[in-house]
Amino acid sequence: MLAWKKEFEFGIDVIDNQHKKLIEIGSGLFELVNDDTKDDYYDEIVAMLRELEDYTVTHFKDEEALFDAVDYMGSMAHKFEHKLFVKKLEGYMTDLEGIDSNQKETLLELLNFVADWLVLHIVKTDREYVPLLLATQN
Ligand SMILES: [Fe+2]
Repeated sequence: MLAWKKEFEFGIDVIDNQHKKLIEIGSGLFELVNDDTKDDYYDEIVAMLRELEDYTVTHFKDEEALFDAVDYMGSMAHKFEHKLFVKKLEGYMTDLEGIDSNQKETLLELLNFVADWLVLHIVKTDREYVPLLLATQN
């Protein structure tokens, strides 16, 4: 189960709201994994991948602009983590046939990857820029 937790909150509204939205998209994946009402989930999986990719690209851009504006020292390593995440999602999108023929496996793998990555990234990597951002906020 992927749900918003108090420990994810930074007190920076823009980021908190975008992280909430990401967790929401992730929990949509969870619901899809547990949905047994249909035989074919290809369209839903692809739509979810697109939504996730679009939203993360937007969020990463906003987040990077915020920490770059305060000359955050960990910027490069942080951006690299973002890049790898987008690359992984793009990897899925280049194998649409593979998604189609292994729908349940793809969904499960995707859910595990996204849930683990999101939580770890928020509580560890993102949290590191919080003191600096809060200190420089007016
Ligand atoms: Fe981040």
